[in-house]
Amino acid sequence: MVDVVQTLGELLAWGTGALSRAGVVEPRREAFRLWSDGHDRTAAMATLAGAEPVGAEAASRFRDSIRRRLAGEPVAYITGWTGFRRLTLHCDRRALIPRPETEGLVDVALARARSGLAVDIGTGTGAIALALSDEGEFADVIGVDVSPEALALACSNGMASGRPVTWLEGDLVAPLAGRQVNLLVSNPPYLTQAEYDSLDRSVRDYEPALALVGGDDGQRLVRRLLHDARSVVTPTGWIALEVDCRRAEATGRIATAAGWESVTVLDDLFGRARYVLARRGSTS
Ligand SMILES: C[S@@+](CC[C@H](N)C(=O)[O-])C[C@H]1O[C@@H](n2cnc3c(N)ncnc32)[C@H](O)[C@@H]1O
Repeated sequence: MVDVVQTLGELLAWGTGALSRAGVVEPRREAFRLWSDGHDRTAAMATLAGAEPVGAEAASRFRDSIRRRLAGEPVAYITGWTGFRRLTLHCDRRALIPRPETEGLVDVALARARSGLAVDIGTGTGAIALALSDEGEFADVIGVDVSPEALALACSNGMASGRPVTWLEGDLVAPLAGRQVNLLVSNPPYLTQAEYDSLDRSVRDYEPALALVGGDDGQRLVRRLLHDARSVVTPTGWIALEVDCRRAEATGRIATAAGWESVTVLDDLFGRARYVLARRGSTS
């Protein structure tokens, strides 16, 4: 750690070096984001301002952010926000940080249904529900979560984004209480306990286990969802799930066995089998 920092360039070089030595994969990008975020500047503006002197208080806040990152805390929890499709979402330890794969889930879901009623089961920050409301033409979008803490965060993201999503607390489809939906989207917890135990500590020590673990085989919630969703999806409606790539084909088989039609497994942007899509009834 340096005691005296004179310019922004020196401060950022210190932060980048510290993150790099700790094995952070993109140390410069993260250091610039941690700086620019706390100071209402883009990373590009920070690059151009390298010769500017930095006040002691600003330098101290930046060092604190770097220390939190060095301790393993994810950037989105340090800055308190992340981007998801066209939205900026508040993020904290109450809910999982939305991942790039999940942005793809919204694409494949919207390609199948864009109107009527949509629901996001296990909404976390509200990312999927808010994106469906933002980009689809749905009469209403519902976000469900069993965690009251996550739902409070989703609700505040809803208010901040101005999207009219209905938030319901409860177990999977139970809070829908008889409502029929044209599109059910979910990124449920899908890791086994053993997979969870071997995760990087920046995930395990910070993000909620409730958002990640799906029972001994990782499929407990996926299986229940594929069974229970049949009673809430309209006959021509769709289900779109994000699943573990190691179990995507097996999830497709569970969907077929549960009676879903047109079952399709699609890859995510990293080329891994990630999405399972199915229609409740056949079109003919
Ligand atoms: C993988 S996270 C997904 C969060 C968010 N949809 C996203 O994609 O970033 C799974 C979410 O499901 C919620 N969850 C876990 N068990 C649930 C259940 N039985 N019923 C409803 N939600 C549940 C967790 O609280 C968590 O917010």
